[in-house]
Amino acid sequence: KKWFAVIGDPIAHSKSPNMHNTWFDEMNIDAAYIPIHVKSEDLENAVASLKMLGASGWNVTIPHKQTIIPYLDELDPLAKKMGAVNTVLCLPDGSLKGYNTDGAGFVHSLEEVIGNDKKTLEVLLIGAGGAARGIAFALQQYGYHNLTVTNRTVEKAKEIVSELGEGRALSITETEHSLDKFGIVIQCTSAGLGNSEFRLPLSLEKLQEGAIAADIVYNPLMTPFLLEAQMKNAKIVNGLGMFVHQGAIAFRYWLEQYPNTNNMIKRLTDELN
Ligand code: ATR
Repeated sequence: KKWFAVIGDPIAHSKSPNMHNTWFDEMNIDAAYIPIHVKSEDLENAVASLKMLGASGWNVTIPHKQTIIPYLDELDPLAKKMGAVNTVLCLPDGSLKGYNTDGAGFVHSLEEVIGNDKKTLEVLLIGAGGAARGIAFALQQYGYHNLTVTNRTVEKAKEIVSELGEGRALSITETEHSLDKFGIVIQCTSAGLGNSEFRLPLSLEKLQEGAIAADIVYNPLMTPFLLEAQMKNAKIVNGLGMFVHQGAIAFRYWLEQYPNTNNMIKRLTDELN
């Protein structure tokens, strides 16, 4: 029997165990997936223990996505570029390979809603933290090359653009003035998460009619950003698809099969509503 895990701190509210165990059931795979609470100071021991106990792979969540890297033997090129790992695969020779499926999960989710024929649209990324970086690199890899990054701290947006080797960085104010040129607008900040005094990272006053507005947050499903965008007649994409697809891509690295994402999105949407 194969087994998998997710390690993080905190971990109790993770929806990953339920998601992967449901897929194992649906696909008659004899495997199990468990959450493991790992504090930062225990990370090295936890990795050694998972390996010793024969885990086939695991997911990595906050706060270990960057700090796990020194304990891995090999990194997928995208994970290396992002400097963050959310999926580990234990190879037959016992070595550990790190992947990052967050950014690709976002692109799969986006394309599930908008199709894959809109790669020439101007794309705006709001935010320049870890999540935004991952999405920027994945968008580039999937053929989206008209990328603008805006962030409260514009220097961080400039860093992403310089690492990408293409695209532009704009201040929040400059972006607000030119918002109508973007066909796809992606909210990647943690602004207001777990905070009742939510303020949008930027004004959507000039949002293009019919633009696509996506958020990486999925709890709540309808974020203040998406609500505002919907009022401006945008087509909205919530963050749940990203979560489900990052899991599905990890699942494929582990088991070489792609699970049913549509049913899972429906099921989790019902749970979150
Ligand atoms: P994550 O890994 O989720 O991306 P992060 O790396 O801490 O988290 O990045 C958080 C992002 O949210 C950053 O873009 C941050 O902007 P700064 O780089 O200027 O800090 C953005 N953010 C967080 N709180 C914000 C707020 N109150 N208003 C605007 N942007 C905010």
